[in-house]
Amino acid sequence: MADSDAGPMLRRYDTLVKMMFLGDSGVGKTCLMSSYAGQPVSDSHISTIGIDFKMHTVDIDGHIARIQMWDTAGQERFHTLCTQYYRRAEGVMLVFDITNEESFRNVRMWLQSVEDHAPQDVCQVLIGNKSDLDGNRRVRKTDASALAEEFGITYFETSAKLTTNNNMSEAMELLIRQILEKKGVFNDEANKDEHTASIRLDENPASTQSTQSSYCSC
Ligand code: GTP
Repeated sequence: MADSDAGPMLRRYDTLVKMMFLGDSGVGKTCLMSSYAGQPVSDSHISTIGIDFKMHTVDIDGHIARIQMWDTAGQERFHTLCTQYYRRAEGVMLVFDITNEESFRNVRMWLQSVEDHAPQDVCQVLIGNKSDLDGNRRVRKTDASALAEEFGITYFETSAKLTTNNNMSEAMELLIRQILEKKGVFNDEANKDEHTASIRLDENPASTQSTQSSYCSC
């Protein structure tokens, strides 16, 4: 994909993917999204109010997927309000903090909430975040893997603070692939998303493309 002299060229995306980030307050949902989108990761905890979103574009085997990442507030007072967004989700990144046992205990509550409010066939991945703080670990990897297995989902340990080997791209790619497979994208390349639209892409579609974010106090 080449740039024109005037700057980034226009290119269409093939599929729109809607993904929710869920988990307790402070586990690192916003930071993970920023890290994945190649944006600066904040050192301070500024709680999300209501719901926010970022867009990011990736190339999966030549298929351009535009990822709509919904960042929900982990604070309990927003739970009921935010569940109304679950019904639009095709994928869920369920995040806990490996240094915070309570955030792991609450994973079952989040899974129940997904079951209650999201589409039945929603794809999910369990994320144990803050792997850079392994010395302060309070959740055993084996316990998290066992929980993930119980629910038939894959477990990843990630870090929003590490710039390399942070596992976030791997986790996102797995989830995106699962969603695209469910949509039949790899069975029938002609089956393009009806929401196809023109967007601006830089030279490398797999690199940071996040140009849009919004805020909504639900
Ligand atoms: P809410 O918006 O309240 O739901 O929180 P959140 O889950 O979006 O958490 P946020 O991304 O704001 O991160 C909370 C705090 O954890 C911040 O101080 C981050 O800098 C820190 N943090 C996030 N991810 C990591 C990580 O991978 N490693 C370390 N060491 N700190 C992290």
